[in-house]
Amino acid sequence: MTAASSFWNPFAQMATLAGGKISIVGGRGSTVIDAAGREYLDAIASLWYCNVGYGRAELAEAAVAQMRELAAFHTFEYYTNPPAEALCVRVAGLAPMPGAKVFLTPGGGSDAVDTAAKLVRAYWRACGQPDRQVIISRSHAYHGMNAYGTSLGGIPSNMEAFTPLVGLVEQVPWDDPEALDKTIESMGPGRVAAFFCEPVIGAGGVYPPPAGYLTAARDICRTHGVLFVADEVITGFGRLGTWFASGRFSLDPDLITTAKGLSSGYLPIGAVLVAEPIAEPFWRPGSAEVFRHGYTYSGHPAAAAVALANLDLIEREGLVERVAELEPVLAAALEPLAGHPLVSEVRAGTGLLGAVEIAEQARAADPRIGQRLVLAARERGVLTRLLRGIALQVSPPFVITEAEIDRIAGAFADALDDVMAAS
Ligand SMILES: Cc1ncc(COP(=O)(O)O)c(C=O)c1O
Repeated sequence: MTAASSFWNPFAQMATLAGGKISIVGGRGSTVIDAAGREYLDAIASLWYCNVGYGRAELAEAAVAQMRELAAFHTFEYYTNPPAEALCVRVAGLAPMPGAKVFLTPGGGSDAVDTAAKLVRAYWRACGQPDRQVIISRSHAYHGMNAYGTSLGGIPSNMEAFTPLVGLVEQVPWDDPEALDKTIESMGPGRVAAFFCEPVIGAGGVYPPPAGYLTAARDICRTHGVLFVADEVITGFGRLGTWFASGRFSLDPDLITTAKGLSSGYLPIGAVLVAEPIAEPFWRPGSAEVFRHGYTYSGHPAAAAVALANLDLIEREGLVERVAELEPVLAAALEPLAGHPLVSEVRAGTGLLGAVEIAEQARAADPRIGQRLVLAARERGVLTRLLRGIALQVSPPFVITEAEIDRIAGAFADALDDVMAAS
């Protein structure tokens, strides 16, 4: 890639990037290949999404077949199409809340989050409680980069350039149910619309929930009539060894936001799953309520067809069950890294998710150590990335083999040694 590139990379310092881009041109299974022909084992399934692995011809064929019939037609007001209808029935059937309605979003999780944030407010307005406008989220949270999602985020560096954005948002410590209770009380319970919660915090550093936290938070929300929104953009569609984290943790959420794993990224698509009572004011026979929200590509037929084929594939190959089987394998492979002098903690054991946190002392001594570790792992043929400046991400495709999991752990161990030796 030359300095003449016009492509402005997300989250990149463009002034220093020239010549440093890596062009990915292909992939098979859990491996991707760059333009120079070099192969890398992808420890993070791109950005947590390529769950069925790379090179799945049947997903390409599903897109082609649908595009030959009808690539796209909008779904505003009364238009619909067969793949969008079928996908919503399918997703509602998988949802851990009976009778769920499904609002399709065209992009990634950011669209789903902004849709859910607007929907909870529209719901309370429709219920005659228009003062319920405040949305609470958690420290370390990542809810995407649209305006609402950025405002709800709990990673300060992602917000600094933009605040204030959307108002009426409050933040609580990620692990403290009492703080949630107190915040709702202090706002006045009649003012809080919803609590947004990643069942396992992802981009903030992979934090599985402390024992009992999620149930306590959900119960507090119920007590105060606050809607519980599970942001399952990462955890939805199998990453925790169940179709939804909400199922694994018996969360009984009011809404679930999803994207990534819905199509494994083969085409962009997301969905907001809405529990029947929350949909009711809009769906009740005779209701005049309109959720005045939607995107040009909501219900995109080709994307929906690919998502359906992706769900077929996950079911046919038993990939959700496979994640459950691999959960202890991944945890056991990463665990020894906790003994390395550069590592303060390894978090794993909740699905195919893990993080290797770099010791604070090492980060203080060299603020660039995280990036150096990412590069060192890449030199060893494994792709990872740095979460919140502190931890290396592990979220492989569901099709990863046990031998490949060992290769990830081995490359991390070698990278840690390489960086320590060079320090
Ligand atoms: C929990 C969560 N919510 C929302 C998003 C935003 O998704 P996207 O980047 O696809 O818009 C992400 C992305 O990683 C996420 O992890």
